[in-house]
Amino acid sequence: MTQADGGNADSTTTFDASTPLARELAEITRRRQALASEKLPLPDRTRVFTVANQKGGVGKTTTTVNLAAALARAGARVLVIDLDPQGNASTALGVEHRSETVSVYDVIINDEPMAAVVQKSPEFDDLYCVPATIHLAGAEIELVSLVAREQRLRTALESFLSESPDPFHYVFIDCPPSLGLLTINAFVAAQEVLIPIQCEYYALEGLSQLLNNIQLIERHLNPRLSVSTILLTMYDSRTNLANQVVQDVRDHFPEQVLDTVIPRSVRISEAPSYGQSVISYDANSPGSLSYLEAAAEIARRGAPQ
Ligand SMILES: Nc1ncnc2c1ncn2[C@@H]1O[C@H](COP(=O)(O)OP(=O)(O)OP(=O)(O)O)[C@@H](O)[C@H]1O
Ligand SMILES: [Mg+2]
Repeated sequence: MTQADGGNADSTTTFDASTPLARELAEITRRRQALASEKLPLPDRTRVFTVANQKGGVGKTTTTVNLAAALARAGARVLVIDLDPQGNASTALGVEHRSETVSVYDVIINDEPMAAVVQKSPEFDDLYCVPATIHLAGAEIELVSLVAREQRLRTALESFLSESPDPFHYVFIDCPPSLGLLTINAFVAAQEVLIPIQCEYYALEGLSQLLNNIQLIERHLNPRLSVSTILLTMYDSRTNLANQVVQDVRDHFPEQVLDTVIPRSVRISEAPSYGQSVISYDANSPGSLSYLEAAAEIARRGAPQ
């Protein structure tokens, strides 16, 4: 339609709402409006999540960073603890983590107060990060001979949270892809475990080992720990396999699995190279909306009783 048409032409002649693209745009608009119209509740007490799965590349870091950003955008005060020597969460949140940066390594190994290493992320006003540097790679070994080796992160986090003038609503701890002492420190410091599961073949492999380990921690080191949340990631609706994985995981964990599933999305994978979450990199992309929806579900569900 052109100006010359005088706007009288039937709009369906140029905008066919039945095309896949038009339907997708309408769906995105509907989701944006639904998110914008809801004010998320803030928890009374800090909810500490460990984001864990010993399988590599399933979306732990992506989930940590984007949920944290989504909740910060919704008005929560959020801390991310990067507990992976790869330092991917620190990169994605745009915080300094060169080898000379004081980091989570100094907190765990050298008793540095957490307040001395926390950095503000440029992403959102109330988003903070405890960075990881490459030094953390040696921490698994160094921890072995330290006193209270499983409790070091918890002790540091508890004193940081109790001394913080403004309370934090959420803490997310991004774990490395292993079940070593760093991940055990994360399980001991948290009340909730969030397991990202990639919608791929082998997705459930290793899950029973992870759950057994969490049960052992619960029994011996941290009775308040529970697997509160499972998030399906990198979903590709075109494959039957992805749909099968979603169904299997929902059948096994009906309570824990979020309704929201994170799609495979180029925007999600591009964002870290700009030192950004997808929430600020491309707020209206389907990937960003999915993380905002997952964050809203987590907020609405609240902490397990
Ligand atoms: N929804 C998605 N769509 C497309 N790419 C994704 C998505 N989620 C994650 N990725 C990409 O997949 C790769 C692995 O993701 P991520 O680093 O979050 O996994 P991880 O579990 O933290 O990995 P590691 O075990 O190495 O710590 C990254 O390159 C990331 O950008
Ligand atoms: Mg990671």
